[in-house]
Amino acid sequence: MRDIKNGFIDIHTHVIPHVDDGAANSAVSMKMIDMAYKQGVRKIVATPHYEVDKYDENQEIIHEYFYKLKDMAVKNYPDFEMFLGNEVYYSYGVVDKILSGEINTMAGSRYVLMEFSPGDVYKYIREGVLDVINAGFMPIIAHVERYENVFNSRDNMEELRNVGAYMQVNSKSVAGQGGFFRGRKVLKYIREGYIDFIATDAHSTGRRAPDIEGCLNVLRKKFDNDTIRKLMIENPKRVIENKLI
Ligand SMILES: [Fe+2]
Repeated sequence: MRDIKNGFIDIHTHVIPHVDDGAANSAVSMKMIDMAYKQGVRKIVATPHYEVDKYDENQEIIHEYFYKLKDMAVKNYPDFEMFLGNEVYYSYGVVDKILSGEINTMAGSRYVLMEFSPGDVYKYIREGVLDVINAGFMPIIAHVERYENVFNSRDNMEELRNVGAYMQVNSKSVAGQGGFFRGRKVLKYIREGYIDFIATDAHSTGRRAPDIEGCLNVLRKKFDNDTIRKLMIENPKRVIENKLI
C-alpha cells in the first residue's frame, strides 16, 4: 500500500505570533507553516496557551493575529486551512471562561485541549478532566506523555479514557526525541489503542519546529496506514467537525 504523504491535520500548534511562547513574529509563523505544508500538513488548529495570570491574552488580539496569519497562509497555499483553539492550562475556574467564550474550544467544537503540570498528582488531573466533562465539553489531554502520574500508570490512563478523556502525544515523542523509554512507551500505548491524536506542538522553526517526517519514519515501520490515518487525519478531522470519535 502506498504511504500517506499529505492531508495531515495538526491539532496542537503555537503558530500565532506575539500571543504566547510560540512564533516570535509573523515571519516565523509563515516559516512554520511552510515547514508543515512541505511535510504534508493541510489543516492546523492554532492553540495558543491559555493560563491564568500568565498567558491570558485578550481574545481580540488573538483573533487579529490569527486572521492576519490565516490570510497570508491561504494566499500562499490555497488548499491550507487554519482553525482557532487554545491549549488550556487547567486551574479551577477555567471552565467558566470556556463557557463564556474567553477561552477557545477547538475550532469552535466541544473539544478542549487541556494542559497540566508534569508533576501534578493524578487526583487533580482527574478532577480537572471531570470538571471539563461535566460542563459539557470533551477534553483532549495535550502531550499526555509529560504527566508522569498518568503516563506511567496504565490504570490511570485507562480510567481517564473511560471517563471520556482523549489523549494526544507529540510527534517528537513518537520520533524518540523525548527520550528512548518515553518513545517506546508512546508506541506501546499507540499499539494498544490508548492514543487518539499525534500533533506537533510546534513553537518555532528551531528545536521546537513542526516535525511530521521524523514521526512518520517511526510510525511507518511499526504501524499500518489505517493507524497513521486515524491518529493524524481521521480523528483530528472529527475534532474540527465536532463529531464524536
Ligand atoms: Fe502546546
